Amino acid sequence: MCSLIHILIVISLEVVVISGLDNGLCLTPPMGWLSWERFGCNIKCHLNRDECISEKLFTDMADRLVSDGYRDVGYDRVNIDDCWMSRNRAEDKKLLADPKRFPNGIKYLSDYMHSRGLKIGIYQNYGLRTCMGYPGLIGFQKVDAQTFVDWEVDMVKLDACFTPVHTLDKGFEDFSEVLNKTGRPMVYSCSWPYYQLHTSQVIPNWNLIADKCNIWRTYHDIHSNWKDILATIDFVGDNQEIFNRNVGPGRFNDPDMLLIGNKGLTVDQSRVQMGIWAIIAAPLFMSNDLRSIGQEFKDILLNKEVIGVNQDRMARPGVRVFHNETLDIWLRPVLPEAKHSTGSHTSYALAFINRLSERAISIAVKLDELGLKHNIAVKLDELGLKHKYFVSDLFDKTFSPQVLTADHMFHVTIPSTGIRLFKAVIDLEN
Ligand SMILES: *[C@@H]1O[C@H](CO)[C@@H](O)[C@H](O)[C@H]1NC(C)=O
Ligand SMILES: *[C@@H]1O[C@H](CO)[C@@H](O)[C@H](O)[C@H]1NC(C)=O
Repeated sequence: MCSLIHILIVISLEVVVISGLDNGLCLTPPMGWLSWERFGCNIKCHLNRDECISEKLFTDMADRLVSDGYRDVGYDRVNIDDCWMSRNRAEDKKLLADPKRFPNGIKYLSDYMHSRGLKIGIYQNYGLRTCMGYPGLIGFQKVDAQTFVDWEVDMVKLDACFTPVHTLDKGFEDFSEVLNKTGRPMVYSCSWPYYQLHTSQVIPNWNLIADKCNIWRTYHDIHSNWKDILATIDFVGDNQEIFNRNVGPGRFNDPDMLLIGNKGLTVDQSRVQMGIWAIIAAPLFMSNDLRSIGQEFKDILLNKEVIGVNQDRMARPGVRVFHNETLDIWLRPVLPEAKHSTGSHTSYALAFINRLSERAISIAVKLDELGLKHNIAVKLDELGLKHKYFVSDLFDKTFSPQVLTADHMFHVTIPSTGIRLFKAVIDLEN
């Protein structure tokens, strides 16, 4: 165990400064609710008016965000995905919301959100049609951007179904400029690199993507099952050196929605998703039914300390420092920092995932072997300094916080397909 970890911690936690999309938005990952995974393209309101893509669905979720405490911990966006439009544009070429399902139009929904301290997001596709066959963006970039401005939209997700992959760089870059020229700051969520990575052999231009988008999708649509959660986490871990290079305030990798509260994920598995999405600085968009979610899942989504890790102002993504078939260990530098003549030393969030479904596993590890003294440039001992960490468990409140020095042996038991998520707050002492 120890020697294995030693080999793997060469991964850099250094700060790399790269400029990103300069619209002043998403200095920390955006949070909210998004319709797609849970409600998809269900347009059959005559069969079940609570389950279809309609004005009611979005106002219902907005009401829950406000009444059940989600908005107040940061989930302040309500995002519409595909299937909100009429099948055809209006005579003046503008997009129209489906008049039956959105009887008052999108501006009404936008006002509804804004008057409740929420923001609204919308969906379009860089193509002739959207993924589900509604009118697409190509040929109407300026018209659609202006329509979104007229509706006071706060975020635009741009998908890329049915579009030749070699045209995506220019298409997504141009639309970033179009959005900018409207003068209304709108979060720009890009599915751009996903299509390059998974439908062709094109290597994404990561610098350009981070320069033009606030968030960008890198992996397949996620579904409510453990296999998908693990596959998504593995994809991020396997490619972390590429992905992390461009992450920072205003620009984040998007591993897709939080599925906590849906059938298909246990409480432990839900904690894994929440914990790792916090560690990797992922956008936190829930796609679930807030009207019927169980309290045990709600507690996970409303966990302020875990959200605090996700929203850490340094916006430095975590790294996977250990990985095998059984176990993952992830580490993210977070505030507070201890300032000292030797430099600034960060605290850490630390996650252990048990990937197996058969049984709990127990491990013992020293914090310094995991890299918790990684950014300490000089030997503290020589200066007569000791660094200690105040370690608390962010999910399990029965865990008594411990004060550990970096060379202490730390014993951790991790439930099957579960996580232990700790925060280790640095304390430098003379
Ligand atoms: C993974 O690593 C842990 C810790 O060293 C070890 O206990 C476990 O047996 C390893 N699993 C496999 C499949 O090698
Ligand atoms: C447009 O881009 C400029 C230059 O990057 C930036 O200063 C400005 O805030 C942007 N405006 C909007 C609305 O995104």
